[in-house]
Amino acid sequence: MTRRDFVRLGAGAVVAGAAVNRTLLEPATLAAQTAGGGSKIRFASIGTGIRGCDLLRSARKLPNGVLVGTADIYEMHQKAGLEAYGADVPTSRDYRALLDRKDVDAVIVAVTDHHHRRVVLDCVAAGKDVYCEKPMSHTVSDGFAMVEGIQANKRIFQVGSQRVSNLVFKKAAEIYASGRLGEVHFIEAHLDRNSPSGAWVYPIASNCTPQTLDWNAFLVDAPQRAFDPVRYFRWRCFEDYGEGLPGDLFVHLLSGIQCISGINAAPQRAYSAGSLTYFKDGRDFPDLMTTLYDYPGEMKVSIRCNANNGSQDTTIFYGKEATMTIVGNTLTVTPQDTRPQAEGYSIGAWTADEKDQYLKEWHAANPAHAATLGEAESYTVTPGYDDTADHISNFFRAVETRQRVAEDEIFGNHTAIACHMANHSYFHHNVAVWDAATKTIKA
Ligand SMILES: NC(=O)c1ccc[n+]([C@@H]2O[C@H](COP(=O)([O-])OP(=O)(O)OC[C@H]3O[C@@H](n4cnc5c(N)ncnc54)[C@H](O)[C@@H]3O)[C@@H](O)[C@H]2O)c1
Repeated sequence: MTRRDFVRLGAGAVVAGAAVNRTLLEPATLAAQTAGGGSKIRFASIGTGIRGCDLLRSARKLPNGVLVGTADIYEMHQKAGLEAYGADVPTSRDYRALLDRKDVDAVIVAVTDHHHRRVVLDCVAAGKDVYCEKPMSHTVSDGFAMVEGIQANKRIFQVGSQRVSNLVFKKAAEIYASGRLGEVHFIEAHLDRNSPSGAWVYPIASNCTPQTLDWNAFLVDAPQRAFDPVRYFRWRCFEDYGEGLPGDLFVHLLSGIQCISGINAAPQRAYSAGSLTYFKDGRDFPDLMTTLYDYPGEMKVSIRCNANNGSQDTTIFYGKEATMTIVGNTLTVTPQDTRPQAEGYSIGAWTADEKDQYLKEWHAANPAHAATLGEAESYTVTPGYDDTADHISNFFRAVETRQRVAEDEIFGNHTAIACHMANHSYFHHNVAVWDAATKTIKA
């Protein structure tokens, strides 16, 4: 379908002639995304690398926020951030300069994971509301320290897993809550890639030198090392700064699952298998990992990220009455055929007399009824739909109204714990068990 078709059909329209009934979900108009007060949230950005620039490109579309400053420890990223938003606002290496400013209401934090705790705690202590990129924490204890600091300072805090604000995932949550899937006890999701970029083998910019990058500020309390731009650009590969596949990608799948299912808890147990077979470039993490989780409520969740085979980003809820599948930004609900059926398989070993008798009795007890199998239905969004813009907009709106955000610190902490459990199991070769009493992972 072309964009013109989408526009012509409008919100909620059903596409005639498609294999399944497909409904288009359209975002609220940008004007409707404000709380109505007309005020703009004055925000600053800390960390304007790959994601920080993407966030700024999304934020510039929003009517309810305006960028007033940025900070990054690397000169090129400082410039790239200003280019991404298209504004000439003050920028500095030291983010603390932003926190002293009275005209900064909120901060978008998109620094490397090992900086999340410090930067977020500094921001909330300075009275700023915070949007912090996923995964919320670098370690389990970081996550709990962040929850405490955010709540003690009574700040609005949102984690940046944009699919929590994605229209398709919100529709899926509505369908799940309606009970139409029947009982669901198994959820499966994967996000695979098959390219060097997908495995974080990012190019190293020639302008990155000890003069243009504050290397000590990058390391901060990570183990001290000589200047190493590979570690700076490919930080996801190293446990000092990132959490490998779980912190980079599981977190998206798990936050989507939490959003749909309403699960807001750490898993009880996690078991991971994985391997590093292709990208043997000195990294700490595997390039394939799959984890099986036990969640409360008899929910089993299977997650996989494979950097050596690219298949589409998929989440599947297997229900007794229907299967709900999200591939990319398209959601399909396919009913299961649960209509009563006479046994056909096992009576193959019955004598003809016994079989006839059984079938006669079965049909007498189950008179034919008109129940037909429901049709599959599907929902999608317009091409180019930007769930990051929706997620930031939800944050700005919460800052204005002081109402709940889409993804708060409790939700984000639970997702991050699940990521840490996946790594814990992989590296310890055993089942990771969550101990809520001590807030730690037990082997
Ligand atoms: N939601 C998503 O889809 C998504 C996508 C990519 C990355 N992320 C997350 O965004 C964050 C950033 O990832 P990235 O890909 O942009 O990495 P990146 O390395 O490109 O950018 C991180 C930036 O933070 C800067 N930085 C680090 N410490 C700093 C500090 N103390 N003060 C100021 N600047 C500092 C670095 O110089 C760098 O420019 C990570 O937490 C990552 O997991 C989220």
